[in-house]
Amino acid sequence: SAAPPGDGADETGGDERARVAAGVAGFRAAHGTEPAGVWAAPGRVNLIGEHTDTSGGLAMPFALPHTTLAAASARPDGMLRLHSANAPGGAVELALDALRPAAGGGWAAYPAGVAWAMREAGLPVGGADVHVTSTVPTGAGLSSSAALEVATASALNDLYGLGLTAERLARLAQRAENGFVGVPCGIMDQMASACCTTGHALYLDTRDLAHRAVPFDVAAHGLRLLVVDTRVQHELGDGAYANRHAACERGARRLGVPALRDVAYGELDAALEKLADDPVVRRRVRHVVTENRRVEEVIALLEAGETRAIGPVLTAGHASLRDDFEVSCAELDLVVETANAAGALGARMTGGGFGGSAIALVPDAAADAVAAAVTEAFAAAGFRAPRIFPATPAAGAR
Ligand code: ADP
Ligand code: GAL
Repeated sequence: SAAPPGDGADETGGDERARVAAGVAGFRAAHGTEPAGVWAAPGRVNLIGEHTDTSGGLAMPFALPHTTLAAASARPDGMLRLHSANAPGGAVELALDALRPAAGGGWAAYPAGVAWAMREAGLPVGGADVHVTSTVPTGAGLSSSAALEVATASALNDLYGLGLTAERLARLAQRAENGFVGVPCGIMDQMASACCTTGHALYLDTRDLAHRAVPFDVAAHGLRLLVVDTRVQHELGDGAYANRHAACERGARRLGVPALRDVAYGELDAALEKLADDPVVRRRVRHVVTENRRVEEVIALLEAGETRAIGPVLTAGHASLRDDFEVSCAELDLVVETANAAGALGARMTGGGFGGSAIALVPDAAADAVAAAVTEAFAAAGFRAPRIFPATPAAGAR
């Protein structure tokens, strides 16, 4: 009964009570029993702090109201029986003892990878029946994969009385994606899904996972935060992501620091001078160091109640991702350019890039005009129609 991810995804992410009931009914139909419970984990957008988490830097995501629900029960026989309303082909059955990284691929690798990561960490986790439903658009840069991992991790944590903290669940979810699925992502998405709170963005230090909830109530300032899904599929596993990370590591090595996080903004000019012979690494370094600075700027502005003033910082972040980190694409650039020309205070790509989604901060009165301008610009460019919805910060996993 659940719509495919994305297709029913309106701004609310669906009525949660009805969705939980549908998840329970789906579990019953798939597994023939009642679930022990239903666990929810959201997708996210990142407000600022992009491609910093692989350098131990700062980020500021917030949770979307769109969630992945895992209805689940423990099984005594060491088997995982995984079913998703959003994936065709019925249940996937896997024996815990036989789980091997990157073996099967497919969607089931995400939840299976979580169980694998827990066992690898020596945690006493056993089998489970799981039924997944979701309103997080998949492959749109809104972290449907992290939502699936964190929902599964939350379910196994409670079913097996593991008593793990949200931070630990996020680490295990990341380990599942890195070590089992084979995607070399950072920790931002999983931390956002596990730790965000309603009405707040999450100020996250990805080095030690220190985090703080920062009020982000755009409506109170007469603003809206629009999410624009370009519907261009991004692909993190294709080498470009890993390649950016490698360039950052090379930069850190040459600068004699453990990670680019350790290059202070005030040391940037000197650092760039040292890298004059390697223009690519130089650009990557400049992005990461200035982006960490932009996170601090946004925090300071939000905490001073100057929400409108973050707009130009968002746009500067986009230019840096486009020109220095080189992870944007024509569709994302068009969103940013068009939104700003039509009255947005600022806009940027969000997430890994190469497609996926952008965000635009717009005054209430300009929201319709901005959405219409972006839709028209996409049509004129011959791009697929984008999906546009306003986002308000919602709760993390529960
Ligand atoms: P993103 O995390 O930005 O949405 P990814 O490409 O990293 O994009 O992850 C998308 C993949 O995660 C899908 O192709 C699918 O394998 C898996 N996935 C996410 N949500 C679900 C779901 N509800 N049911 C089945 N698979 C899902
Ligand atoms: C992906 C990745 C995150 C982060 C982001 C860019 O979403 O999963 O860990 O690196 O790209 O900020």
